[in-house]
Amino acid sequence: MDKIIWIDKKINNYNKKIVVDGDKSLSIRWALLASQALGISKAHNLLNSDDVLNTINCLKKLGVKIVLNKKYCEILGNGLNSFKYKKNIVLNAGNSGTLARLLIALLIRSPYKIKIVGDKSLSKRDFLRVIKPLKKFGATFYPKNKTTLPLYVKGNDHLRPINYYENIGSAQVKSCIMLAALNAPGKTKITAKNSRNHTEILYKYLNIPIKILKKKNISLIEIKSKNNIQPLNYKIPSDISSSAFFVVLTLLTKKSSLIIKNVNINESRIGSMIILNKMGARIVFKNKRNYKGEKIADIHVKSAKSLKSIKCPTKYNSSAIDEFLIIFLVAAKSKGVSYFKDLSELNKKESQRLKLGSKILNKIGIKTKLTNNSIKIYGDPNLDLKKNYEIKNFFKDHRVFMMSAIAALAFGGKWKIHNSDSIKTSFPSFLKLIKHLGGKFIQ
Ligand code: S3P
Repeated sequence: MDKIIWIDKKINNYNKKIVVDGDKSLSIRWALLASQALGISKAHNLLNSDDVLNTINCLKKLGVKIVLNKKYCEILGNGLNSFKYKKNIVLNAGNSGTLARLLIALLIRSPYKIKIVGDKSLSKRDFLRVIKPLKKFGATFYPKNKTTLPLYVKGNDHLRPINYYENIGSAQVKSCIMLAALNAPGKTKITAKNSRNHTEILYKYLNIPIKILKKKNISLIEIKSKNNIQPLNYKIPSDISSSAFFVVLTLLTKKSSLIIKNVNINESRIGSMIILNKMGARIVFKNKRNYKGEKIADIHVKSAKSLKSIKCPTKYNSSAIDEFLIIFLVAAKSKGVSYFKDLSELNKKESQRLKLGSKILNKIGIKTKLTNNSIKIYGDPNLDLKKNYEIKNFFKDHRVFMMSAIAALAFGGKWKIHNSDSIKTSFPSFLKLIKHLGGKFIQ
């Protein structure tokens, strides 16, 4: 059912501390790796969202014993390739590209065909990017030549290690190959364009034999399989992609300041914060510490005095890939013309975000120039909305919903925003936190 929210008031200034929900990438990776470990792994602060619940449900269908309650999640792993399941099972990845693309890698020794399905948005997304390397390992996919879900995967007991050039800069593809490598004999080698590196960090922490040679734009990764993976107790830090919505709300709201506690500030994830600082923000990481190979800090941010446009260096694209929609709102309020390029991947997310982001900006009177992989945004520092706006969000994209809500609270106007339920995908506390900061909406 389509749930709608109405916002017709800008948010008043605030001075608060918040905690946002757990990191999605780490939550899914922890659960998948725990299912391959030998013994009990326990996680606190696992993201309680649909993408993660779908991960847990898929693993349960594959015979993994899991205890999930409000306080923690416990996964009883039986080791590599230990899934136990009936013929003809169907695994539903819902809206999650990360889940579908990583989970398939754990199925490439399956004796039966396993069906993988997803929702309307996921069923439009490209799977050739993972089919290609997994076929090289020895897996088979049905129907032949189909590159979108639903798909069947069938494994092979005689897998071979591969040498692969990952040239999209996709952490999902890289992680898929890394997980598949656990089941293949010998050494798998990946030359991967830069992307988030949580899987590499977890492998190192778990003593899975991995060698990484970092060059400027790529990493050379070599993985050897291991007989047993040790269980992993983990406290999931907060998600910087979710934090970014509140960072931007604060930048765009006068006389406000915000502290967001315990956020994962892994270098491969902080592109949005660097970009925003270059646009005139003063976002500071305080109380920095290390946690099992990841970096964590509290994010301190204050309203921006003045914002300037940016010609965004493409080197930040991969580390800000999930935050561009919200960065576009800052560009809309900045002085000058901002330019973001080489972003074709943005149109391959839960919805065509480059196109849709541009459409939303046009709706609020901001001029854009859009191509297949770039956008120019003609900012207006005096942007102050008065009219009515309706955002339909056909693919129920959680980030399109949240971008629209932040635009309404920051720029004014009367907004009717569809599919508020989409926040359950990645950030279930989003509306609760808006309320906590004093934002008003009608549901
Ligand atoms: C993710 C990687 C990114 C990102 C997604 C989560 C991950 O996708 O957009 O939200 O956890 O590996 P790509 O790897 O396809 O760029």
